[in-house]
Amino acid sequence: MIRGFFEAFGRDPEGIWAAPGRLNIIGEFTDYNDGFVLPMAIDAVTTAAVARRRDDVIRVSSSGAPATTTPLASSRICNLTPGNTASWSSYAFGVVWAMTEAGHAIGGVDVFIESKVPIGAGLSSSAALECALGLALRDLFASTISLQDLALLCQRAENAYVGVPCGIMDQTASLCCTAGHAIEFDTRSGEIEQVDFDLSAAGLELLVIDTQVRHQLATSAYGDRRSACELAAKAIGVKALRDATLADLDKIPDDVVRRRARHVITENERVLSVAALLRSRRFIEVGPILSAAHQSLKDDFEVSCAELDLAVDIATHAGAFGARMIGGGFGGCVIALIRSEDQRTIERSVTAAFASNGFTPPRIFGALAAPGARRVR
Ligand code: GLA
Repeated sequence: MIRGFFEAFGRDPEGIWAAPGRLNIIGEFTDYNDGFVLPMAIDAVTTAAVARRRDDVIRVSSSGAPATTTPLASSRICNLTPGNTASWSSYAFGVVWAMTEAGHAIGGVDVFIESKVPIGAGLSSSAALECALGLALRDLFASTISLQDLALLCQRAENAYVGVPCGIMDQTASLCCTAGHAIEFDTRSGEIEQVDFDLSAAGLELLVIDTQVRHQLATSAYGDRRSACELAAKAIGVKALRDATLADLDKIPDDVVRRRARHVITENERVLSVAALLRSRRFIEVGPILSAAHQSLKDDFEVSCAELDLAVDIATHAGAFGARMIGGGFGGCVIALIRSEDQRTIERSVTAAFASNGFTPPRIFGALAAPGARRVR
């Protein structure tokens, strides 16, 4: 990190900040419906090495950039303009822009980014980048911002600067999660509760199966689904689908829109059920709820794909208590709740099934609830 920063900028950074990707245990596509989510941080992080400058220029480089002594991208802060989606550096510029817009006196910085969060896997690599830099800028220039307000600014960077209409789950998870816990997050009230999530004591674990499928479709479909949810709330006559019940579904004339709404309504109930089960340490009973969520994402929300469905199917048949796709869909990862001793068997079964279907070999690993964003140096 320090070497990368030095090679890019010819000096040492003032500090290094890290922010994790997140894994959402349950509550998919509920965040932009004012609903509930239950994510945890993973141990893969994005790190930002940062040093202040004397002017108002932001320069951003990354370990992904070709070895060069010139920075990858740079701009004066006053020239930052939303809608510049050309590259990953927009996420960094977006954070500076959003914090400045909110009235914080952010000065020029040199930034070097290194990411260990797989991109497009449904593990929130973009939120990790925003939050690592956001936390650095908070510490260096705007120490009064709360973590939840910083999450909102990072979300604004993504919504308004980069142009991705994401909800508030990922940034909040990356900034507010703590080791050994998931957060039960009410996206309407902003209330966060740390829920104990130590599966290992019960001989269990969450297995992550990364299908390695990265679909471009995810971005456009994400906006479509979000619009359908807004239409549904309007047809029902509520502010957001958070306020709707299954009985309201009859008020939605369009079959597709009705199914989208049914996913959100049932998914909110699933989040509350899973949080209650975790609190009473009835972990195994979470399994069937994960599988029900997958069914709903596949049939009602229609964001799954063949690889995700196969991973869920095979993992469940090979002994998982339940499994589901996570994140924006059309690829990325499945999580499966398993007994630790079954890990090898399940891994082998899934890998063999992917091979016999001609799919790219999946990457499979166990996930523990890791700490949220922090200064590491
Ligand atoms: C993406 C978005 C989140 C959330 C999930 C789906 O990760 O960034 O805000 O909507 O999809 O649950």
